[in-house]
Amino acid sequence: MHVLITGGAGFIGSNLARFLLAKEDITAVRVIDDLSTGDIRNLDGLAVEFIEASILDYPSLLTAVAGVDSIIHLAAIPSVPRSVANPRASHEANTTGTLNVLEAAREAGVDHVAVASSSSVYGSNPKLPKSEFDWTRPMSPYAVSKQATEGYALAYQFSYGLKTLAFRFFNVYGPGQSAGHAYAAVLPKFLDAALNGRPLEIQGDGTQSRDFTYIDTLCAVIYDAIKRKVHSPDPVNLAYGTNTSLLELIALLEEQLGQCLDKQFTEPRVGDVKASQADNSRVHELFPSIEPVSLDEGAAATITWFQSQLGQ
Ligand SMILES: NC(=O)c1ccc[n+]([C@@H]2O[C@H](COP(=O)([O-])OP(=O)(O)OC[C@H]3O[C@@H](n4cnc5c(N)ncnc54)[C@H](O)[C@@H]3O)[C@@H](O)[C@H]2O)c1
Repeated sequence: MHVLITGGAGFIGSNLARFLLAKEDITAVRVIDDLSTGDIRNLDGLAVEFIEASILDYPSLLTAVAGVDSIIHLAAIPSVPRSVANPRASHEANTTGTLNVLEAAREAGVDHVAVASSSSVYGSNPKLPKSEFDWTRPMSPYAVSKQATEGYALAYQFSYGLKTLAFRFFNVYGPGQSAGHAYAAVLPKFLDAALNGRPLEIQGDGTQSRDFTYIDTLCAVIYDAIKRKVHSPDPVNLAYGTNTSLLELIALLEEQLGQCLDKQFTEPRVGDVKASQADNSRVHELFPSIEPVSLDEGAAATITWFQSQLGQ
């Protein structure tokens, strides 16, 4: 099987490329990435076919999709605050970009496309855990663009018979996740601060909760989706229903690092959701063979990776 990963130089994409290349039935992995938030060094040592281009560059995208069996569409400007700062850029990369990927797939006759949506689409819906059949209410331009991403993917199934699947990723974490920028995700930010002796910045009171998903769990699900060309008329939460507050996460890091960590509380972030926990029935139903990695195990592997980066 030949797979294209859009956004494959990013955190999730590069981990996925590594995961897929280790599988015998994956014959080639191609990546298209404009390196806007990703880094070519994430692909060091991986035998991927790399195309440096934006998914907004349609001729390059057509080259990228040629001859592949499945497309995993991850390319996006992946951040709530970035979208609040520049909604038009998020719309173009995430929404127009998705339309381009689907159009290119249709034109090239690629029949399987899985896209990355996000738990952020649930927005202000307070219900927990969140089922794919609950109402959505995006609270940021990013969340709107992700709702559009999944909407387009599913519409292409009905309109053109493409086998599409829209994954709602929750908080994905693991080795290779970048900490060194203003828009970094919470776990790498905490680890970077902890290992460099800085206080952990908690935006809000720390009771906000997240459903943390270890990167290998996500890669295993996507690999299974590629192998069986899994598709569905409805989105699927790619998370397993854990509900961990930031304060609980910090307690777990303190336990694993064997030290007490300084905390600094700051203003809550605009557009942030208070609680996030997936109803995991559909992911179990569609991917019955996948066992998720626990937060304890995933956090330990992530700490080890961060320590190795710092030479500790
Ligand atoms: N990390 C998470 O917890 C999480 C949660 C929900 C959804 N997602 C989604 O998963 C996907 C991957 O996220 P990530 O965490 O790996 O982020 P990332 O920033 O590490 O990866 C995104 C990649 O897309 C590339 N990209 C951006 N715009 C592009 C364009 N126009 N053309 C080509 N490439 C482009 C970037 O250079 C980068 O390599 C995104 O769609 C994101 O919205 C991630």
